[in-house]
Amino acid sequence: MPKKGCPYGSHRVLAPAGLLPQAAAKLDNGLPIYDNEILVDVATLNVDSASFTQIEDACGKDPDRMAAMILSIVAERGKMQNPVTGSGGVLIGTVAEVGPRAAAVHAVAPGDEIVTLVSLSTTPLVLDRITAVRLETDQVDVAGKAVLFEKTVFAKLPPDMPRKLALSVLDVAGAAPQTERLVKPGDTVFVLGGGGKSGMLCCYAARKRAGESGMVIGTGHSARSTERLRALGLCDHVVQVDATNPLAVERAVRELTGGRMADVTINCVNIDGTEMGAILATKPDGTIYFFSMATSFTRAALGAEGIGYDVTMLIGNGYATDHAAKSLDIMRESEKMRRVFEELYA
Ligand SMILES: NC(=O)c1ccc[n+]([C@@H]2O[C@H](COP(=O)([O-])OP(=O)(O)OC[C@H]3O[C@@H](n4cnc5c(N)ncnc54)[C@H](OP(=O)(O)O)[C@@H]3O)[C@@H](O)[C@H]2O)c1
Repeated sequence: MPKKGCPYGSHRVLAPAGLLPQAAAKLDNGLPIYDNEILVDVATLNVDSASFTQIEDACGKDPDRMAAMILSIVAERGKMQNPVTGSGGVLIGTVAEVGPRAAAVHAVAPGDEIVTLVSLSTTPLVLDRITAVRLETDQVDVAGKAVLFEKTVFAKLPPDMPRKLALSVLDVAGAAPQTERLVKPGDTVFVLGGGGKSGMLCCYAARKRAGESGMVIGTGHSARSTERLRALGLCDHVVQVDATNPLAVERAVRELTGGRMADVTINCVNIDGTEMGAILATKPDGTIYFFSMATSFTRAALGAEGIGYDVTMLIGNGYATDHAAKSLDIMRESEKMRRVFEELYA
């Protein structure tokens, strides 16, 4: 009979004692599984963009060094949680075993292909080897095993789209549904990092909710992401601006809105130091959703205080009710979005 596990996975925490898996420094990634766990043969990790970018920079974009760094993080921590950014990502794998208590909660069986919808920073993981590091998609093909808990949110892979396309959308599944919730018809919405994966999904949701009476402004960084966003035709204005330059960001939004600024700002940039640009671009009574995992709570809070700005700032909770289905539906609704995502990620 398998051992009885805690619904939140606390039985897997090795250090520090008493924490839950996400906050833990080290997880027990050993076998056999507990009664409320699911064992997954892992095929691909979609490493969180902030984490992947940090690893890429630290390793000079050398795939072999990056593979070695990822293997060493997982060996050290029992999970793929970047010690610098704190973030994880998601995985694709095939269910190998389902504990009896997990079977009562999840309609899943050995052989099912699934994508996790919780961060890799909470997921016990062993990697036997890395077979490919794909710089253009932040994805890493691996052989390994992961353990999911009864509270772990995951989805079966949709039959109507390539698995790597689904993986890339599901990695950022919370972004568009959260945007949909925050934006009202007629709003001015500003999406920093609008030419990236979550940014394009947010621009799509913002356009839909703000409607024709609203205004959507998106930013690109490189010429490539700027052009990609322009070609999608979702934004009233696409500007190429460095999000780490707060005054340049403020100026761009002020000029485009005639000084009214944004009702809602969504930050989807994958590097740090972009909090003040997001704050200055937003109306004093507006709302900023920091989806970016490179956001510093301290910089955002003290930065807003420092300029006397009474703005509402939301932490980018990656989970929203039905977020997987809603985000995948964007790929079904919009042929243009699907083509761009397929070209980039599938
Ligand atoms: N809240 C959550 O649950 C959750 C889940 C997943 C991911 N995330 C976070 O969301 C963020 C975006 O993820 P993603 O997968 O959408 O990333 P992505 O596809 O790599 O997009 C990031 C975008 O940021 C832009 N960018 C980089 N440096 C910039 C700068 N200096 N100025 C302006 N733009 C800049 C990039 O433009 P170029 O390509 O042109 O440089 C790119 O378009 C990351 O921080 C990630 O960690 C959060």
